[in-house]
Amino acid sequence: MGVAAAGNIMNVLGMYGMNIMNSDEFRNAFQQVHHNVTTVGDHSLNVAVSALCICAFLSKLHINTKQKELTQAALCHDLGILGRYEKFENNRVCCRQHPVDSVDVAKKLVPDMDERTQKMIRTHMWPATPLNIPTSREGLIISLADKYCAIREVTTRRPGGYHAEHIMMRAERVKASAAANL
Ligand SMILES: [Fe+2]
Ligand SMILES: [Fe+2]
Repeated sequence: MGVAAAGNIMNVLGMYGMNIMNSDEFRNAFQQVHHNVTTVGDHSLNVAVSALCICAFLSKLHINTKQKELTQAALCHDLGILGRYEKFENNRVCCRQHPVDSVDVAKKLVPDMDERTQKMIRTHMWPATPLNIPTSREGLIISLADKYCAIREVTTRRPGGYHAEHIMMRAERVKASAAANL
């Protein structure tokens, strides 16, 4: 990722994702292990950054994406998996149900979230849930970014290529400086 692209992604994360990243739900997500090697919080940031990288690439091809909705959906896509060992009977139920529960959490964090954005979250497990197919460009991007990040996390046995605290601090700083320049 180039410096300009990285800076732009921090801008987008700070602008559209700060309320979610500062929520108790998102902070709790760093307490739950995910894919054996990372946490739900780190993975969610990985997916958001990777999805925004795909958007940056697509914009070079003059293909536009709705980055606000994509950022919100990417950050929230797995928040419904928190407490999985207490609330889901087995992995199959977890796979089917956590996207639905993630939508409930997302609606709490972003009360005006529209149906299209909710659907990005609800279908993010595709193709593992073959009947729940993404119906928007952004939904497909999140689904692809999710699989890419999961494979990268497991195969490299590292939480991810991005440092969660670093991303959140940079995004917060970008948002503060944007507010000061208004
Ligand atoms: Fe998921
Ligand atoms: Fe995920």
